[in-house]
Amino acid sequence: NNIQSGTYTWSSPSNIALVKYWGKKENQIPENASISFTLDACKTITSLGFNRKEDDNQFSFDVIFEGKKNSDFKPKIETFFKRIEAYLPFLKDYHFTIETQNTFPHSSGIASSASGMSALALCLMSIEKQMNPDITPEYFNQKASFLARLGSGSACRSIEGDLIVWGNHEHIEGSSNLFAIKYPYAVHDNFKNYQDTILLVDKGEKQVSSTVGHNLMHNHPFAKQRFDQASENMTKLMSVFKTGDLQEFIDIVESEALTLHAMMMTSMPYFILMKPNTLKIINAIWAFRKQSSLHISFTLDAGANVHVLYPEAEKAKCIEFIKNELVAYCQNGHYICDTIGFGAKPN
Ligand code: PMV
Repeated sequence: NNIQSGTYTWSSPSNIALVKYWGKKENQIPENASISFTLDACKTITSLGFNRKEDDNQFSFDVIFEGKKNSDFKPKIETFFKRIEAYLPFLKDYHFTIETQNTFPHSSGIASSASGMSALALCLMSIEKQMNPDITPEYFNQKASFLARLGSGSACRSIEGDLIVWGNHEHIEGSSNLFAIKYPYAVHDNFKNYQDTILLVDKGEKQVSSTVGHNLMHNHPFAKQRFDQASENMTKLMSVFKTGDLQEFIDIVESEALTLHAMMMTSMPYFILMKPNTLKIINAIWAFRKQSSLHISFTLDAGANVHVLYPEAEKAKCIEFIKNELVAYCQNGHYICDTIGFGAKPN
């Protein structure tokens, strides 16, 4: 190719898993299928500048994070480039300038790896498309998801929306361990514009990275039961999405969140990522749900923050409860109102 230079920009959202991915094999292959809501407001915006360089024997890139040159991300990106080099042969031909920023505050405890890695994968795919203009939109998204997976597993679920499946599942046609797909069946209106208010309980750096956490699922005493359970929960959620049964949805999603953390507490070494306020929020949600009959529920990522989920039809009452009772448990009263989104966009 004779392309000398250029820039592509993508904004790519975060996502929140309903059935969790926790445990992987070689090459970022998940132990079980997972399903997530794509978010809307929590995004990473990445511009990738590229300039042809003289040599082609090493990777060359700079990272500018929120306007400042930053070398903290370099090792992760170097590993990412090594993993994807075989699929993007032009990687060593250019010097890259990766300028990136998040819509959510830095060190908010919101993982930016899904949005960040997917945004970078999409920028790289835009270069690939410039070189091969015949690439179809389907191939573009599928390969972007494939590449994003090699950056951070859950990042492969951030390319599209609104409900995304990653990992082979016997009942989900077209599902794959290599890339994520849109959930291929009709979904009940109860789940349209589902809301996610993220309560920032602890903005500090996680004590245990998700890479370490995934690895602790090797030789974990409950690994097999966990992977089987996740697969069964996928099947159960499929019927929930059909019928619109919100109570059953809550049972599955909250159990998944607590099971994720139970795996952490029962691995060796064991660890706890929840904080006292995480538990206070969970108890307050349970008490309010009982008393109000609203369909408010929670899920957790690999951290202390709580994602509060509720249907759009119950938004006003749930927000009122969140503001009156839950925000007090957030660090500096900080929370983010988000909703289901429809995937990454070029800028
Ligand atoms: O994408 P990773 O390797 O950071 O793993 C993320 C795992 C969870 O967020 C805890 C669950 C999930 O499915 O997103």
